[in-house]
Amino acid sequence: MTLKIKTDVAIIGGGPAGMLLSHMLDLSGIKSVVIEQKPRAYVLERIRAGMLESGTVDVLRQAGLTGRLDREAIIQEKVHYGFQGKETLILDLKAHTGRWLTAYGQTAITQDLYAAHDKAERMLFDGVADAQPHDLMHSPHVTFTKEGQAYDVECSYIVGCDGFHGVSRTSIPTSVRKEWEQVYPFGWLGVLAEVPPMPELFYARHTDGFLLASKRSPTRSRYYVQVPACDHVSDWSDDRFWQAVYKRLSTEFHHRVTTGPSIEKSIAPLRSFVSEPMQYGRLFLAGDAAHIVPPTGAKGLNLAVSDVYYLHRAMDAFFNHDNPNLLEEYGSTALRRVWSSVNLSWKLTKLFHAFPGESAFEQKLRENDFDLLLDHPPMQAAMAYEKVGLRL
Ligand code: FAD
Ligand code: DHB
Repeated sequence: MTLKIKTDVAIIGGGPAGMLLSHMLDLSGIKSVVIEQKPRAYVLERIRAGMLESGTVDVLRQAGLTGRLDREAIIQEKVHYGFQGKETLILDLKAHTGRWLTAYGQTAITQDLYAAHDKAERMLFDGVADAQPHDLMHSPHVTFTKEGQAYDVECSYIVGCDGFHGVSRTSIPTSVRKEWEQVYPFGWLGVLAEVPPMPELFYARHTDGFLLASKRSPTRSRYYVQVPACDHVSDWSDDRFWQAVYKRLSTEFHHRVTTGPSIEKSIAPLRSFVSEPMQYGRLFLAGDAAHIVPPTGAKGLNLAVSDVYYLHRAMDAFFNHDNPNLLEEYGSTALRRVWSSVNLSWKLTKLFHAFPGESAFEQKLRENDFDLLLDHPPMQAAMAYEKVGLRL
């Protein structure tokens, strides 16, 4: 027998977007049920993003979620951009914009969100199979099974927070959906190591490919190097990885790198992708379910948070003040911000990666782009504004 549940909002996906939305709706007295395909332990271990915009931290703070972040996060006021082992541009975000980035891992944010969920005793089903949204125009509901038991969640709205491979986006008819996609012929090999990070947040471009030195804590480093899309983690011993880091980094910064055994290693493909509209009938999309950016701009999680911010505001207006206007505008409001992050992520990816088969002419254009940035403070200011993100 199918168990029936009634709620205001059914949320498919218990990643950062889904869990933050559920938390913020709860603060506004709006009921939700989160339906997550993976077991909770898997979701809590997943290692991904690290850099948060000030606007993202503001949203987390307003939602009462920054207790641990305020103790553990590392403020990053400057970004270093190295080019061909020669010039280094130091982009002073704070001087240009009065704002900065915050290094705090997505794994920690997810843990904070699940801890808040447990305190509030909201409804969440993890490890579910066959989640499926239905009747998006009239009486929306979501079916799924867990441990052999079938469930049916009736709701006023469904929100698809189920990432790029989820079921929500593809339940919008293809006649309505328009998609833009750019797949890159390389990925990022990410390594987590229990060693002190470089003090700088360092992005570097080398003929061998991109390098990023990031951090999770004063004793935990996160590094990435560009690798061919067909590479496997097993192709990259720790030794080979650290050699690539040294080779791609200007020698004057070598003494800042502490090497050590990896505690996690994974390869992420790079893709730019946007699907419009972000609303169809009573289904809304938020986060990676609607858009993906290559991580070079550190924008994906920040966009997931801004989508949730707009959607929560709109649902609060609808459920608590009987005003549907913001819900109707949700897609167009969110997409302006999405496209600006897609744009910056593409520009930085082009500037800092080695593109296989690139012509000498294209390489010259890249050198010129970097030269312009290096020598012109107004261009640096524009980049700094894009990097810290539009105001919400
Ligand atoms: P997800 O995190 O993908 O969560 C979706 C959830 O839905 C998952 O838990 C999944 O299990 C679940 N799900 C999927 N399908 C189903 C289904 N059928 N039924 C039920 N549940 C389902 N962003 C930044 O802002 N800053 C950074 O520094 C940054 N660095 C990154 C580095 C790397 C290497 C990568 C790969 C990404 C990075 N990102 C960064 C991007 C960021 O990690 C994502 O944008 C973010 O995870 C999006 O959150 P989400 O909740 O929308 O999607
Ligand atoms: C991370 C940091 C970044 O600045 C970025 O662009 C991508 C990922 C990180 O720390 O994981």
